[in-house]
Amino acid sequence: MCGIIGATSSRSVGKILIKGLQLMEYRGYDSAGIALNQKEQVFRLRALGKVSNLEEMMVEHKPKAKTGIAHTRWATHGEPSEDNAHPHGSNDEVYIVHNGIIENHESIRARLKKEGYKIISQTDSELIAHLIHFYKQKLGKTTQAMIEATKELKGAYSIAVIDKDKKGKVFAARQKSPLLIGRGIEENFVASDPLAIASVAEGFYLLEDGDFAEISKDKIKIFDETSKEVQRNETLIEATATATSRGGYKHFMEKEIYEQPESVGNTINGRLGENDVLNNIFGLGSSDAFKEVKRIQFVACGTSLHAAKTARKWFEDICETPCYIDFASEYRYRNPLVEENTLFVSISQSGETADTLAALEYAKSKEYLGAVSICNVPTSTMARDADWKMFTNAGPEIGVASTKAFTTQLAALLMLAISIAKSQDINKDKRAEATQDLRNTPSLLQEAFALKADIDQITENIASKNNALYLGRGMFFSIAQEGALKLKEISYIHAEAYPAGELKHGPLALVDDKIPVVALAPEDSLVEKLLSNLEEVKARGGTLYVFGNAKSKIEIKRGKFIKMPECGTYNAPIVYTVPLQLLAYEVACHRGTDLDQPRNLAKSVTVE
Ligand code: M6R
Repeated sequence: MCGIIGATSSRSVGKILIKGLQLMEYRGYDSAGIALNQKEQVFRLRALGKVSNLEEMMVEHKPKAKTGIAHTRWATHGEPSEDNAHPHGSNDEVYIVHNGIIENHESIRARLKKEGYKIISQTDSELIAHLIHFYKQKLGKTTQAMIEATKELKGAYSIAVIDKDKKGKVFAARQKSPLLIGRGIEENFVASDPLAIASVAEGFYLLEDGDFAEISKDKIKIFDETSKEVQRNETLIEATATATSRGGYKHFMEKEIYEQPESVGNTINGRLGENDVLNNIFGLGSSDAFKEVKRIQFVACGTSLHAAKTARKWFEDICETPCYIDFASEYRYRNPLVEENTLFVSISQSGETADTLAALEYAKSKEYLGAVSICNVPTSTMARDADWKMFTNAGPEIGVASTKAFTTQLAALLMLAISIAKSQDINKDKRAEATQDLRNTPSLLQEAFALKADIDQITENIASKNNALYLGRGMFFSIAQEGALKLKEISYIHAEAYPAGELKHGPLALVDDKIPVVALAPEDSLVEKLLSNLEEVKARGGTLYVFGNAKSKIEIKRGKFIKMPECGTYNAPIVYTVPLQLLAYEVACHRGTDLDQPRNLAKSVTVE
């Protein structure tokens, strides 16, 4: 949610800031803006919509400056408009960019109004600029003013600030929202994502909650929450240019779908033995701790939640462990009762999702056996906060719709189930079969891409409709949910998933010749029952698109049967995900939506 960047250099920083924003555009694209500290004044430009609009304005104005900040916005407080776009300024002096939410904005707004500040926007962020200005008037120093101003803020923020009177300096602060400093040659940076500055920074310092920083082109000073100057360890972060380019594909989402054999390969690489997972793949001591696991509590959001729901069956089957699964946004508001030896597992691609982080923080105050995180971004807050973790190693996922994040999370969850069963010395044969299935997954994913030709034949019909139903049973109901989520978020077609047996309890009323019904029919213990449910659709004249295999082949007059590769018991859900991703992608292309950056959404949801 919102990307922020700041730069101070011996060269002009305008282009660096714009490029950085483009690499963070996945975080929000309602508006973009830049403020540059020029000789006499701060020069500010703001544009509605995408960074490219701002870039065009930059070409027109050709501003030059060696210090600046910039922002790409996902609107929370106040509609997308120029007034609400960042950077926000106070008295033509202090300019800020902000990511996060200030919860006590109403009282701060009232107080600042009394102090005589003219508040122009509807945002909570503008208030930060005025607060810093207010304290600067009193204390004289910008860093000191920031320290005092942030003491008043409740909520989450990462902030970058420039001050007209402090040429060559960028100030920054972090509280529960990602922010890091990049060290360059005769230049330094601050950004909410390392990708934004990877091409110019030589090393990174991850700021901690409560940290402040003051950077100039040749100096980085970091202060902790007690205002004491501290050293943070320099970290190397792999963020290569190939990972952030489309590499010949039309969209990042397309590239990321086709990367899945490699990504899942990277998830399992170095973690599998011949017939089992290796010990301690979730971190030192994890294998011993897992001996005690009796129950599991999962929390996640969106696609990551679907991963947990899919994986439940593996945990029941391989490690005989009951699972509870909650939306992260709901979990801590229901006062969950924690039974003894329950393992808490949070799943998140970004590791920065506010709801999931808040759930993890809450869980730490409860009597869990410990917290495991499955996440894709090693520098994320979640990665730092958990007791044990597994990085999915999928590489940066830029498309807003999660694809490779999901299949790699499933691979990690299957390894967690095997790992717990191994620690408890149970179900050796199932562990061996699941391990072998994991090993076979990358090549099966590759085979699944051959389905594109079949999918092309059904794309047009689905693209012409406004609604779709997705059906599955058992684990494949959760895969159907994920398929429906993909379709709705990038094509804007309303899609709902149901366990096929539920159809007759209500949704069957929707079935006619205008609603496509997509069904997953793998060869499992429920296939006969599923086929009967599909007959109910056929009998009502529904159009059926069935993904199945030889055993589930049904005669379809209206629609199409698409034959899947032969999968194993444990990897079938991972492989069946691919055609649903391809289908959503092709339908969205057909409808001409902005599918890497669908309307109203953002990749990393760092607000509650
Ligand atoms: O980064 P996270 O996995 O925590 O994100 C959770 C959801 O916001 C995310 O999975 C979202 O549902 C997907 N972008 C949908 O494709």
